[in-house]
Amino acid sequence: MSRKSKTRVTLVTGGAGFIGSHLVAQLLSRGECVTVIDNLSTGRLSNLDDLPRDNLTIINAKVGQAINNLDPAQFHSIYHLAAAVGVRLVVEDPIHTIHTNVLETSAILEFASSASTPILIASTSEVYGKSTKTPFNEKDDVTYGPPSQTRFAYACSKSIDEHLALAHNREHDLPVVIARFFNIVGPRQVGQYGMVLPRFVSAALGDKKIEVYGDGRQTRCFCDVRDVVKLLPTLLDNPKCLGEVFNIGNDEQIEIGELAKLVCKTLSSQSEIAYIPYDVAFGPDFDDLKNRQPDLSHLQNATGFRATTPLTQTINDLAKQIKCKRSSAESLA
Ligand SMILES: NC(=O)c1ccc[n+]([C@@H]2O[C@H](COP(=O)([O-])OP(=O)(O)OC[C@H]3O[C@@H](n4cnc5c(N)ncnc54)[C@H](O)[C@@H]3O)[C@@H](O)[C@H]2O)c1
Repeated sequence: MSRKSKTRVTLVTGGAGFIGSHLVAQLLSRGECVTVIDNLSTGRLSNLDDLPRDNLTIINAKVGQAINNLDPAQFHSIYHLAAAVGVRLVVEDPIHTIHTNVLETSAILEFASSASTPILIASTSEVYGKSTKTPFNEKDDVTYGPPSQTRFAYACSKSIDEHLALAHNREHDLPVVIARFFNIVGPRQVGQYGMVLPRFVSAALGDKKIEVYGDGRQTRCFCDVRDVVKLLPTLLDNPKCLGEVFNIGNDEQIEIGELAKLVCKTLSSQSEIAYIPYDVAFGPDFDDLKNRQPDLSHLQNATGFRATTPLTQTINDLAKQIKCKRSSAESLA
């Protein structure tokens, strides 16, 4: 199939992951043919179970390996979401994090460049590092802790991805959009790599202790994944957005201690909330950010985007999906 075909053909790396699987569903619903590359390191094939297979191809491999057998000119667009993610994974396995995030992104950018295929690169609010400014604007300076603090390996690796993508845009005219995600949440997100909302919801469903790291006064802004995946194709399809970096998320802040209480209230849970010092949770060199709020003006000017799904609905939908997964695991046991 060549790019001349009427049907849009799209490549999604990390398509069996949390955001990726929702994006694949969105693209298929737009009538696109989608190829997923995913090595299933943190993603799961079951995330794609409910999707029609006619226009979906799944390649279970690392990005760098899989693209050797693909023609970049066949794709109308590429979404590069594959990455080593999650605070716990990053702190425990920094070599894997750096290799995956830098080398795989470099490979997919070369691939896209060779046929000028438009590409969206998933980045993160972590690139703002330990800046205390709020809200974060795309043009802000960034400040990182020393390399002895392992958690900054993720921020630095994603920052290099942004530099590389923008360099391909400038030097090769590659159509690139950089999406800096701020705490995207929703059904199918898992807590085992340190993601806060699924950890809290899982604990609350079993009336188990909810562990809040630090004093719980740190704030984050949560945005439902179903809002985000509707936005991503409009960014890549809009010529004004090419070569640009966008904060993506919701700008409503909530303290993490308050989030734990909201989860308990929403799910009528009896869970106790426990506050665990950072050094106990992550080791002595861990440094967390106090606030992380996006300035969304650049995104809103370009697209008019506003998150619409209330956090309580996200909590309820995530709880429903976790319960469903637990009961199907029990019936298989
Ligand atoms: N969820 C968030 O709040 C959030 C916030 C900031 C940035 N992001 C970024 O969004 C993207 C998607 O994150 P997510 O939350 O869906 O996490 P996820 O772990 O569910 O998705 C990542 C996917 O990439 C796959 N993968 C990892 N290494 C790979 C490799 N070498 N080759 C092929 N596939 C590989 C994993 O198996 C997984 O399916 C990532 O780039 C992440 O850095 C997410």
